[in-house]
Amino acid sequence: MRVLLTGSSGWLGRFMAPMLRRAGHQVIGLDVAPGADTQVLGSVADRALVDRVFAEHGIEAVIHAGGLHKPDIVRYPAQTFIDVNVTGTLNLLECAAAAGHDRFVFTSTTSLMISQAIRDEGGDSAVWLDETSGPLAPRNIYGVTKLAAEGLCRIAHAEHGLATVVLRTSRFFPEDDDTHATPSGENLKANELLHRRLTVEDAARAHLRALERAPAIGHGVFVVSAPTPFSPADAAALKADAPGVIARLFPDAAALYAARGWTLPATIGRVYDAGLADRVLGFRCRTDFAVVLDALRTGDPLPFVHDPDYLPTKERGG
Ligand SMILES: NC(=O)c1ccc[n+]([C@@H]2O[C@H](COP(=O)([O-])OP(=O)(O)OC[C@H]3O[C@@H](n4cnc5c(N)ncnc54)[C@H](O)[C@@H]3O)[C@@H](O)[C@H]2O)c1
Repeated sequence: MRVLLTGSSGWLGRFMAPMLRRAGHQVIGLDVAPGADTQVLGSVADRALVDRVFAEHGIEAVIHAGGLHKPDIVRYPAQTFIDVNVTGTLNLLECAAAAGHDRFVFTSTTSLMISQAIRDEGGDSAVWLDETSGPLAPRNIYGVTKLAAEGLCRIAHAEHGLATVVLRTSRFFPEDDDTHATPSGENLKANELLHRRLTVEDAARAHLRALERAPAIGHGVFVVSAPTPFSPADAAALKADAPGVIARLFPDAAALYAARGWTLPATIGRVYDAGLADRVLGFRCRTDFAVVLDALRTGDPLPFVHDPDYLPTKERGG
């Protein structure tokens, strides 16, 4: 298929474009920043440009991964989030529906399930989060605009029959966390694969699977994250004594971590459950916490990218 990939110069886009090509698709990349896989430089918020891209490139399906995300909150005003994430998504959906497409994949975020109360982690138990969680009260303009865009995907299916698959993706960024300094770097990423992270390669694979399955699904919202080893029955223990729960599931984790000078999380306050994607989308991340432990055991390279200096192309200037 001729697939329009928005955000093709981004972190996810640069993994997704070659994967799409390997799967036999032709990729037309659209991004505000240049990149190896970006043929069209411009904004999804520019309706005339989006119309032109559809007409000139004979687009047959859209993967909409481009937009502003959490690190952009300090860089752009709220109105720009609305223009890019909401109006931009509407532009693409309307063009896809008008062109008679049968599938549209939208990159959303687990962040929109995190209210201020969940973020504060004040309760006695870890909060279990899946597609049934709600009422949703996203705590910032990023989450608010992504939730609005999800709603646009839902009504595009209801009103036009366009199959829309929304992937509520957990974190896969390569840089350090902007709010947690300890533990830093690779240690934090390894810990997060227990409950709130996936690799960028798995995120890209999830989109390919969604593209394939969308017509059979109609409209669907899926949490996409590395499969958690925990169950809802662990929620209280995770909050009080996460290392105890981890020791029960992975008896050598503490020793493997100690050998590397790493620390396990003392407490875990939220868990993303990607079970629905496994059951309905037929997608399961390949890399999880057990794969990290295997790498620690064998001395193989860690199965995820850590790049503290990563800066999106659009912010590099010059
Ligand atoms: N990185 C994460 O951990 C994470 C987690 C959950 C969801 N997501 C979502 O995944 C998607 C990809 O994120 P990423 O990590 O690759 O971020 P990124 O910033 O590296 O990539 C996003 C791309 O979108 C482009 N873009 C921005 N405004 C645009 C516009 N108006 N028109 C066209 N393109 C525009 C940017 O230039 C960038 O190349 C985003 O939708 C993001 O919200 C990311």
